[in-house]
Amino acid sequence: NEGSLWGGRFSDGPADSLAALSKSTDFDWRLARYDIAGSRAHARVLNRSGLLTDQELTDMLAALDTLERDVLDGSYVAAESDEDVHGSLERGLLERAGETLGGKLRAGRSRNDQIATMGRMFLRDSARNVSAQLLEVVDALITQAENHPYAPMPGRTHLQHAQPVLLSHHLLAHGWAFLRDLQRFVDWDRRAAVSPYGSGALAGSSLGLDPVSIAKDLGFESAVWNSIDGTASRDVFAEFAWIASMIGVNLSRLSEEIIFWATKEVNFVTLHDAYSTGSSIMPQKKNPDIAELARGKSGRLLGDFTGLMTTLKALPLAYNRDLQEDKEPVFDAADTLELLLPAFAGQVATLTFNTARMAELAPEGFALATDIAEWLVRQGVPFRVAHELAGEAVRVAENRGVELWDLTDDEYASISEHLTPDVRAVLSTEGSLTSRSSQGGTGPEAVTHQLTEFKRQLAEI
Ligand code: ARG
Repeated sequence: NEGSLWGGRFSDGPADSLAALSKSTDFDWRLARYDIAGSRAHARVLNRSGLLTDQELTDMLAALDTLERDVLDGSYVAAESDEDVHGSLERGLLERAGETLGGKLRAGRSRNDQIATMGRMFLRDSARNVSAQLLEVVDALITQAENHPYAPMPGRTHLQHAQPVLLSHHLLAHGWAFLRDLQRFVDWDRRAAVSPYGSGALAGSSLGLDPVSIAKDLGFESAVWNSIDGTASRDVFAEFAWIASMIGVNLSRLSEEIIFWATKEVNFVTLHDAYSTGSSIMPQKKNPDIAELARGKSGRLLGDFTGLMTTLKALPLAYNRDLQEDKEPVFDAADTLELLLPAFAGQVATLTFNTARMAELAPEGFALATDIAEWLVRQGVPFRVAHELAGEAVRVAENRGVELWDLTDDEYASISEHLTPDVRAVLSTEGSLTSRSSQGGTGPEAVTHQLTEFKRQLAEI
């Protein structure tokens, strides 16, 4: 059975239904480049261990180069009868190097350590790509924040007006979440940068091959210290899928706000024509489809993560064929983000904020009540009492259908002698914002410091 890596102990080939079930070339072919890189590194350690002569190594590397070229230009593809990328590439190697030389390469390695290594190589590259794209989203948030140094907006809790905040503060709040996602990938890479190659099927190699030199050859920092762990663990895959789903969830939270801001009722943002879509029947429609797709795809990313975790649950050591199911979820997670992030970054970069309306609404809905209470505290009133008095002012204003700054000095005085006309100092958005000047607060100066610190941490990644 040409293209098969096993068969000696079988008297018959696999049933068609088994072959169809077993086959993974439809999705693992994208690992071909990594598989060939692994083969080059493996050929070198075979040579160093005396299992390939210098001439054989030269010929093997030449055949692998030809194979790689043919794979990349599409002239060599998986055959219907190939089970997986490893088997197919061995067939391709045999065709190019001859059976005798080509047949030597498999010594001391197994598809189990190959696939675990190839997966990590793929994911490390994907993490770098996704991070670069996510950085574009973060840059768009920073630019929007910098372009709106003083733009007050209603800060919300429970979606109700809570306290005025600066738009830059709000945008950076999303920025910090994405910054942590970027940091997560950096931290994750310390665990991903460990090569399983040389673990063999599960127990290591008897041929004196050096896993550390293969690891270095393939750009890893080190090699695994346990061959069972190397071939059977997939927590590094799962962690990648989790980070991807966390990014999805963070994108979906910003998406939900963009969708809300773009409604007629709220009218805080206008979407750029290039980053919004129309309706096939309603000519007036301009829809926030990027944000909606991001919100939807966050569910898909969570599905990838959950599916992978469910596959891993209760798997005994070491390799089990269940692990073939590890690839599609992480491939899908990487592909989903790589498709989504450029559009998302463009959408954020081109949002136009209706700052006049946002500023007008910022103090409404009694959003300055906390400022009254805290002003009273500064006058020596205990907070419990201050909270009550400010609440009473809200009640009076609400009954009259006005805002807190519309109450007269007499009305304030009749609520409490502590509520002197001086309270008006905090009855403005500006007064409220500037008073919140400590680290992490929404005061303009605090936000300027925050932006500097944000950029400093971003540059450290
Ligand atoms: N294609 C398999 C996978 O993706 C690797 C092959 C291991 N197969 C085996 N019978 N041990 O996990």
